[in-house]
Parts: sequence; C-alpha cells; structure tokens
Amino acid sequence: MRILGIETSCDDTGIAVYDDKYGLIINQVLSQSNIHNKYGGIVPEIASREHMLNIFNLCKSIFKKRNNNIDNIDAIAYTAGPGLSGSLLVGATFSNSLAYSLNIPTIIINHLEAHLLSVMMEDKCPIFPFLTLLVSGKHTEIIYAHALGKYSLLGKSIDDAAGEAFDKVSKNLKLRYPGGPEISKISKFGTLNKYVFPKPMLKKNNLNFSFSGLKTSVINFINKKKNLNFQFKADVAKAFEQSITDVLVKKCEKAIQKTNINRLVISGGVSANTELRKKLKIMVQRYKGNLFFSRLELCTDNAAMIAYTGMLKFKLNQIDRNYGIKVYPKWKIYN
Ligand code: KG4
Ligand code: ZN
Repeated sequence: MRILGIETSCDDTGIAVYDDKYGLIINQVLSQSNIHNKYGGIVPEIASREHMLNIFNLCKSIFKKRNNNIDNIDAIAYTAGPGLSGSLLVGATFSNSLAYSLNIPTIIINHLEAHLLSVMMEDKCPIFPFLTLLVSGKHTEIIYAHALGKYSLLGKSIDDAAGEAFDKVSKNLKLRYPGGPEISKISKFGTLNKYVFPKPMLKKNNLNFSFSGLKTSVINFINKKKNLNFQFKADVAKAFEQSITDVLVKKCEKAIQKTNINRLVISGGVSANTELRKKLKIMVQRYKGNLFFSRLELCTDNAAMIAYTGMLKFKLNQIDRNYGIKVYPKWKIYN
C-alpha cells in the first residue's frame, strides 16, 4: 500500500511517498527560505503563492522521473492544519483535485501529530505511552502520547515558541532565516558563560514555558552594541542557546518525574539542535530512559511524516471520499 503525502502548512512545499512494505521511497522538500530570508521571517501571502507555483511542477517532476507510477498510489494524505490558511489551502486543493482525478481517497493529517509520529519511521523508536517535546517555529509543547490518536497536553509556551525565539535572536544578530540552524552553527565558536541570559519559568513547578522575556532581554542586549563582530555574535548565540536548552531540558525532566514515563521523543524543527539533543540524552539517562529523535531531514517540515501518518490512518480506515477541501489553521491534537 502506497500513500502520497503533501505538506504545505508553512513555507516548505513537501511531497513524499510512503510504502508500508518498502518504507519511505520518495521525500522531497522545496524550501522557500531564500525568499523569506530578506524579510527576516515568513510572509504568509508570499508563502501561499510560492506553494502554488511549486507544487504541481514538483509533483510532476518526481513522478516523471519514476515513469509516472502515480497509479500505484492508494490515497493522498495532506496537512489540513495547523498552519497558515493560504498555504494549507493550496495543499488541500491540490490533494483533493489529484485524488478526485485518480479516484482514490484523501486523508487529512494534523501537522503536529505527524511531527510527533515521525520518529516511528526510525529503527530506534518508542512504544506507547511516551512523552514528546514538540518544538517548532510555532509550537513548544510537552505532550503525553497515550496511543495513536490519543494525546494530552502537559505544558506549553504561554507566549513565543522556542523556534520563534531562535528566529528573532538570529534576525537581530543579522544572521539568516531560519535562525535555529544559524544560531546553532555560530554558537560552536562562542565562549561558555561569557554572557548569561535569564532562564524563564525554570523554578516554576508547572510544565509551561515562556520565551518572550528571554528573547527581549537578548535583543535589548544586542541592540546596545554598535558593532556586531563575529565573536560577539557567537558569544550571544552560545548564551542564548544555553538558556533556552536548559529550560527545555528542565521541563522535560519535570514531566518525567510527574508521569514516571522515561521514553522521551523530541520532534519539530528545534529538535535538530545538537546542544538540546546532547543535554536531553544525559538527563534521560539519569532516569534510565531513552531519548528518541528523527534524522535531521525529518525534524523540520517534510511530507514524509505526512505520508507515514497517512499510512497509519489508512489502515484504520480514517479516509475521506468526499473531496471537500478541509483546512483547520488552529487544529489541536489534544483536548
Ligand atoms: O517544524 P518546523 O520545520 O516548522 C514548523 O512547523 O514551525 O520548525 C521550524 C523551526 C524554525 O523556527 C527554525 O529556526 C527551527 O525550527 N530550527 C532550529 C534548528 N533547525 C531548525 N532551531 C534550533 N536549532 C536547529 N538546529
Ligand atoms: Zn512543523
């Protein structure tokens, strides 16, 4: 059985095919980051227009290379939310039109559930129940995954997402967009403890986060400096990365203590951060647990996770044959 996955929730156009026998056989992402880079963040209107320009050609070129074996596809899974309305609409319209023309069903996928399940495509993957730290450009959440489709929220950011803070600090350091990989790269040259920034909510006994104060304090610090030389940027990036990763790790530790679950998954774009992975691994080992994460290309937005989640839903017959264009920009996976 083969599922075509379509991802257009934000600024990456993704197409993938997941086969239940052979695994992931196609996974392509066309990034728009060069276009949004000059604005220092995503411009929703431009993102949806770019998806429109790209999606058909990307799909056509992939299947042409493979002798048009699009006929082998059993269903089309597409991201229906959460995300930018215009971007989601492009993927939903494209998926429904193609599915209708091929006379196959569609499967609507929650982007966050797909991030959470993407680790299941790896050899080292957890059994349910497990905890997930979902850290992306728009979300920072600790989720208790009881079973497929059954999730509860343990904690979340009350303001900015972790990825958003990485992006804003990067922008103020005059680095490129997306900021996470830039901060991560340059921080390797920074001196540990040269600067120290706040670690918000660290001492609070709940599992919520707040990154807006940290972000503002780093930006104010940067703005006091006239000349942003390389070493200054590296030292600030190091200090910021230390603060944000320390908070993320501490809250995950609290979640383990609270639930007695020591299987921890990290997913979403920020889970690509090596410092975060390193610290989480050490922390989880103290609880005799395991840390699970995806290969780098499956951490950031991709259609492989959409196709894979689609395959799981297809097996549960959670399919749609109405060809209605379904888009839920604020779709949540927990109650
Ligand atoms: O999951 P994702 O690709 O898109 C959303 O669903 O939001 O996450 C994108 C976020 C961006 O904020 C980006 O800066 C961040 O993930 N990111 C990173 C790293 N790679 C991507 N943050 C920290 N370190 C990284 N290596
Ligand atoms: Zn994402």
